[in-house]
Amino acid sequence: MSTLEENAYCIQGGKTLHGEVTVSGAKNVVLKVLIAALLFDEPVVFTNVPVIRDILELTHLLEDAGVKVKYNGDHEIHVDPRGFHSHTVDLLRAAKIRVSFMLFAPFLVKFGKAVIPNPGGCRLGARPIDRQIELLTAFGVSTDYDSSTGYYTSTCMTKQLEGATYKFSKQTHTGTELGLLLAVRARGRSVIENAALEPEIDDLIDFLNKSGAKIYRQGSSIVVDGVSHLRAPDRPHRILADRNEVVTFACAALASKGDIIVHGAIAGQLSTFLSQLDMIGGRYQTSNAGIRFWYEAPLRACSITTAPEPGFMTDWQAPWAVMMTQAEGVSTIHETIFENRFGYVSELRRLGAKIHFRLPVVRDPHSTYQFNIKKTAALEKLIKKQMIDITGPTPLHGGVVNVTDLRAGATLVIAACIARGESVVNGVSIIERGYEHLEQKLQKLGADIVRV
Ligand code: EPU
Repeated sequence: MSTLEENAYCIQGGKTLHGEVTVSGAKNVVLKVLIAALLFDEPVVFTNVPVIRDILELTHLLEDAGVKVKYNGDHEIHVDPRGFHSHTVDLLRAAKIRVSFMLFAPFLVKFGKAVIPNPGGCRLGARPIDRQIELLTAFGVSTDYDSSTGYYTSTCMTKQLEGATYKFSKQTHTGTELGLLLAVRARGRSVIENAALEPEIDDLIDFLNKSGAKIYRQGSSIVVDGVSHLRAPDRPHRILADRNEVVTFACAALASKGDIIVHGAIAGQLSTFLSQLDMIGGRYQTSNAGIRFWYEAPLRACSITTAPEPGFMTDWQAPWAVMMTQAEGVSTIHETIFENRFGYVSELRRLGAKIHFRLPVVRDPHSTYQFNIKKTAALEKLIKKQMIDITGPTPLHGGVVNVTDLRAGATLVIAACIARGESVVNGVSIIERGYEHLEQKLQKLGADIVRV
């Protein structure tokens, strides 16, 4: 990982990327299973854990709470919760890692109390945790928020968490996972309705069920029969491959007119992405080992709208946008999950991309968008930043760009790899929050990229 002084990539672009790459374990699974490990009374081991900053930040946070976390090398991590003693998260730690609020679950299960600040993480929008707080209330937890300190204080009103039935007003990925972590050790049956459907959540469920939990998913309903304890599975849980990383390399292959075999890619978890590739003429071939993505003929423009799983993931739209700068015609992207996920647009424009915001036609904004819309009067101002059009094919040129968030960061790196000339991508520590060794992986694929 880079030091603070070495927080940029210098990229000589205009390269065709080709070769083979293996994706790392999914960030959005590891973070949750590490927190789930605090619900155990014995050590738990995970394999295929990516070496990324978010895990490092979470490790510091868990160590503050008395949990021992040890890398055994070769992507294996050992979590020993036996010294877990605290129900408080430090403000500075919470500012660095968004999933800190998921510690509500182990804190409440073990101590009946939790004191946790408003979380940080990528600023993709307001990102409130109102649905999670409502979920806690359903589980018999009373919560106060002190706006002068930014801390939530939650107290379990019964001796033990009681199972609950709760329906999310709109789906939430980490909200669903918080519900699982509360329900798994609560007394009696819980039912989580309108639960999110991401496969990363199913990997958490798989891990918990291997540990003695009783969790049954029936589509967007999840039934959980609480258990009094969880035991470490006989074999370490292997973390699912990161499908967001797969998409990053797929777009890099096609945008650079290259050919990349992505080992570890699971086609079943990318079906919406693959069917969109069919629409634009991007080629791919699946096998047991992974998926090969390659360019064969000019790509065609298309329109996509992000949506909750099983729709086109919000995490994929930034790398998709770079690819569409090279497609023939005008493509559009309508973002419906977060209200600030086009931070990369101004940066791509610096490299010559022709991208403009346009006002989407939306019949029912409240059901179209997953974020909360409080003031209908301010609607137009809000949604006019939710859709872009991209004109291609546009040759990109070098320039200096700044990383605004994780996926946007990887996107700017791909753009710089295909742009003619030299580029500097500033702020790469944000990319390292979720991508393991992106620089080395791209070097092996023929990119000329160095950290400076
Ligand atoms: N929302 C609320 N109130 C809530 C909860 C959510 O308004 O109480 C809003 C959010 O602000 C957002 C929408 O609902 O506008 C959906 O949010 P969701 O809770 O589903 O997203 P998340 O759990 O915060 C996770 C991933 C994201 C990924 C989304 C969608 C993790 C740590 N993060 O976020 O990953 O994009 O689900 O699948 O699992 C990333 O990896 O870069 C990343 C942002």
